[in-house]
Amino acid sequence: MQSAEQKSLINKSKDIYRLKFHLMPAAGWMNDPNGLCQFKGLYHVFYQYSPLDANGGMKAWGHYTSLDLIHWNVQTPPLFPDTPYDRDGVYSGSALIHKEKMYLFYTGNVKHLGKFDYIEKGREANTILVESVDGCHFSDKTLLMTNKDYPEDYTCHVRDPKVWKAKDGFYMIQGGRKKGNNQDKGAVIIFHSKDLYHWNYRGEITTTYDFGYMWECPDYFSVQETQILSISPQGLQKEDFCHQNVYQSGYFILEKPEEAVDETGGTLLPGSMIHADFHEWDMGFDFYAPQSFEDEKGRRIVIGWAGITDADYDNLPTIEKGWQHALTMPRCITVKNGKLYQNPVNEISALLGTQEFFECGIFYKAKKDIFKLEMQCNIENNIKLVLTHAKESAEMVTLCWEQGTFSLTLTEKTGRGRDIRRWKIKELYKIEIYADTSLLEIYLNDGEMAATTRMYFDSQDRYVYLEGTIKNSIWDMKGMIIQ
Ligand code: FRU
Repeated sequence: MQSAEQKSLINKSKDIYRLKFHLMPAAGWMNDPNGLCQFKGLYHVFYQYSPLDANGGMKAWGHYTSLDLIHWNVQTPPLFPDTPYDRDGVYSGSALIHKEKMYLFYTGNVKHLGKFDYIEKGREANTILVESVDGCHFSDKTLLMTNKDYPEDYTCHVRDPKVWKAKDGFYMIQGGRKKGNNQDKGAVIIFHSKDLYHWNYRGEITTTYDFGYMWECPDYFSVQETQILSISPQGLQKEDFCHQNVYQSGYFILEKPEEAVDETGGTLLPGSMIHADFHEWDMGFDFYAPQSFEDEKGRRIVIGWAGITDADYDNLPTIEKGWQHALTMPRCITVKNGKLYQNPVNEISALLGTQEFFECGIFYKAKKDIFKLEMQCNIENNIKLVLTHAKESAEMVTLCWEQGTFSLTLTEKTGRGRDIRRWKIKELYKIEIYADTSLLEIYLNDGEMAATTRMYFDSQDRYVYLEGTIKNSIWDMKGMIIQ
């Protein structure tokens, strides 16, 4: 039998779905971005990695580095499940840069053998620290906390530490699932430390209303003094225009800092109850577990997992080639009029080739299978854009905007079960689409909304059809160099 690695390498040259400007696993499975940081000039992207199986399995951390966010080097995976505290998976976590050192915090997953529900019993979630002076060689693992250190009314599901520095020390939040009896509720728990090794529980934060049973991958940061709490909640009810995926990821803008934020420390105030609206990060089929970091230029950058688990659609075409999933492009976060905007970092524009315009109402053949498309829209017009791989093909991706509703529709074979996602947007003046071989990232109105989806065409040809008279541009793109 071929391992995922063998399959992926053998198939590399004839794999038309292999991504050209998104980070993907060399072989096997990739999920959440982890440990994002810039350390001594170098960007580090770690991620959840199962190198031996494209369907997932035992989790380690994979590792990419870059000086400019477009040329990437593959590094040796730094963390494997090799201690009694993480023997069933090196789960998600974050990086902190402090005094010339990189600190990585993550959850060591342990599952006991036996008859357990693995919610209230049978599972350990250990908080573990490793350190590095060069970002590539790591210390032994230090066990910081076990389930005994988490509040008693929490199930065994506590994980994904995110750590930051504040005026009065260090803070860590972890995602959690509270115990049943009408309380089966997602929340984040907060810890404080003076030295990064000893952590004290400070309290929890949750919503005043019911909002899912588990919050994964929490993140907390501020952009232009706007305080953001990001979570990936599980258990939300699907609605017509929101929460359409099996799990969500989004953020609360903590609008009243005096309620949620400690003015002196600039940190989340334990015990605060959130009643702000939840904004989804991305409206597409394939997005989950984003993580942010601040780079040395002071930009807040978010990278999401361009994938999701437990969905009723799949990625069989890449699984057959020995790999699955990817990360989104790094997105720079800004705030305008109290709203969050996300756009690919400027560095990505170095991948753009020459700009061309194409006629509306005809099938325009793109030069390559990777390109950027931009449309300046007249907000009065309805818009329809079709992306396909052959003029006569019934297989397509369709984007529509009609009377305040935007929709993204994939046909059966192209979508592999991805059908339609819809969301409301009052005005539409710009659509930008970054099309990789089998992945689309769509940005509306300069990053007011984003949507990510996988798509599978039978060939590498690409045609674009635009209905109406819409000012447009297309650029072919260069692939991102990964060594
Ligand atoms: C989110 C998640 C995290 C966990 C990791 C395991 O996708 O479930 O909560 O740490 O993936 O791979």
